[in-house]
Amino acid sequence: MKNLSQTELERAADLLIAARYVTALTGAGVSVESGIPPFRGPDGLWTKHGEPPLDGYQRFLADPKGYWENRLHNPSPIAVALEKAKPNPGHYAMVELEELGILRMVITQNIDNLHRMAGQKRLAEIHGNGTLLRCIQCGTRFARTAISLEVLPPRCPHCQGLIKSDTVSFGEPIPLDVLEVCERETRRSDCMLVAGTSAFVYPAAAFPQQVKQQGGILIEVNLTETPLTPWADVSLQGKFGEILPALCACVKARLQGRTTTT
Ligand code: APR
Repeated sequence: MKNLSQTELERAADLLIAARYVTALTGAGVSVESGIPPFRGPDGLWTKHGEPPLDGYQRFLADPKGYWENRLHNPSPIAVALEKAKPNPGHYAMVELEELGILRMVITQNIDNLHRMAGQKRLAEIHGNGTLLRCIQCGTRFARTAISLEVLPPRCPHCQGLIKSDTVSFGEPIPLDVLEVCERETRRSDCMLVAGTSAFVYPAAAFPQQVKQQGGILIEVNLTETPLTPWADVSLQGKFGEILPALCACVKARLQGRTTTT
């Protein structure tokens, strides 16, 4: 972490410890060290292959069978990367911050399942989870293996509704159950750790701004500056997979220091 001072880490650690209710918002940058490319920036998927159509959901509704045939026969580059990706040290550091009672909820824009694989218990996947399927009528989510693909498009065993990937398609409304959790948790936050997101996509990008507007603290972890950087109380520039373990170690050292001196 070439340009990261211990002072910045300690300041961030003190803010996390002092806060009443810490949440986190993560984006694709936290999975880069797990081998999954980001969407934007020089190595971004959208930079290389162009943004997907913004009416992906409408196309699904118009031809659900075609959606499934395409999904099964032409897996996307990110779907291929997901198959072999594993959590990185930064994911495990966030789990440790949860186990320390510091981090109360992680809101992730990522669909790669890595926070779950690392063991994060309190997690809201606002753009869905690429390893799951979801009925668009009753909202039930299924493991991929739980639904037969003998007949396409697959239908919900509960309500016969159409089933698609749980990944929220462009043009698809964010499922209300997860959106309500994100909005509730944002309202409760007096400190938000924002890691690996370009903060372009709403509603997620509004959450850190709301925490700031309600008098809370923002700590940003990113390789570069983002539209959120001017709002950040501490901006830790560098790789998530390096910064989060260092930040977690700093929090632990300060918590231990407290117990030995009190
Ligand atoms: N460590 C920390 N930050 C990193 C790292 C890293 N190793 N590598 C990249 N980043 C940062 C980039 O600087 C950028 O700010 O992560 C961010 C990635 O931004 P995007 O690729 O735009 O990803 P994200 O913010 O999650 O996109 C939001 O857009 O396309 C939609 O649904 C998609 O969930 C996605 C949403």
